[in-house]
Amino acid sequence: MTNTILSADNLVKRFAPKTRLDAPVIAVNNVSFGLRNGEVTALIGESGSGKTTIARILTGLDQPTSGTVVWENSAELSRKALQQRVQMVFQDPFAALNPMNLIGYTVSRPLINYRRIARAQVNDEVIRLLEAVQLTPGSAYISKRPYELSGGQRQRVVIARALAASPQVIVADEPVSMLDVSIRSEILRLLRSVMENQGVQSMLYITHDLLSAQLVADQVLVLYRGHIVERGETGEILQHPLHPYTQLLMDSIPNPWRRQEPRRRVSQTTPSTSSHGCPYAPHCPLAAKQCWSLPAPVVDRPGGGKVACFAVHDGRAVEQARNH
Ligand SMILES: Nc1ncnc2c1ncn2[C@@H]1O[C@H](COP(=O)(O)OP(=O)(O)OP(=O)(O)O)[C@@H](O)[C@H]1O
Ligand SMILES: [Mg+2]
Repeated sequence: MTNTILSADNLVKRFAPKTRLDAPVIAVNNVSFGLRNGEVTALIGESGSGKTTIARILTGLDQPTSGTVVWENSAELSRKALQQRVQMVFQDPFAALNPMNLIGYTVSRPLINYRRIARAQVNDEVIRLLEAVQLTPGSAYISKRPYELSGGQRQRVVIARALAASPQVIVADEPVSMLDVSIRSEILRLLRSVMENQGVQSMLYITHDLLSAQLVADQVLVLYRGHIVERGETGEILQHPLHPYTQLLMDSIPNPWRRQEPRRRVSQTTPSTSSHGCPYAPHCPLAAKQCWSLPAPVVDRPGGGKVACFAVHDGRAVEQARNH
């Protein structure tokens, strides 16, 4: 089953300039994608590329400047309905939990707010949810406060709270980047398994780390300065990156088998202030005159998916990819 559950259609998010001398920030620039039933989609981009802005729009926390979030190819939902159906797992499990509240109370709130579960059943459901995220026995965690838990356990509580709303989609915004390296893959596997076992139909996994996307994602969207520059099946994109920016991301992955340091490093991006030309042109080794002034053409990738690039369109980037 690969029908689309949730679509982002031509999303634009423009932030007002801070001073009269600044230009407005276009954090998200005409972004469209669909989250498909049974699949994890990874949204990959460096710091400042617009990932959290997209997450906040998808979960109904913010409104786009223009564009829509559409449910199952038809309905445009109210913010409240979107917030229940699309739950967010935040990057920082320390900030995401109110330190004053008991874990049982935290996980019970969505049961009462969104699902209106009878009070007599709330306790059993909280225990079931805690055990679904492998906090066992659940009863041992109900009366704890966040400071008594490790970072990984807190993130499990955040996931249990998201599941409590009975969402159809989870948006996980860099859910492991603040956790100890030793437990990252465990939490990613948990996210993948809750999607398969707890009725979650689709997931958007946000990361700046291509390799972690390989662990969980079926599809990949590569975001650069608010633009999706390449998309396709995870294996295809990682093995045959065509866009010069995706190639840079691949080059930047530290490889213990490579003798020298990564050839190039990815730095934080400044957001787009103009909608003309390719956003990557100022850094692109293959940039030609047209790249500065015209929007990049969207080309079908040979192995499926799409890439927005003049150099791919003209056949110059394919050669580079072969030598990659
Ligand atoms: N509320 C806001 N007001 C003004 N500018 C904002 C606001 N939120 C985000 N931005 C700007 O929009 C751009 C994208 O921000 P966003 O937080 O979406 O990036 P990100 O990809 O999630 O980055 P990171 O990996 O660091 O979390 C940034 O330049 C940011 O400064
Ligand atoms: Mg972010």
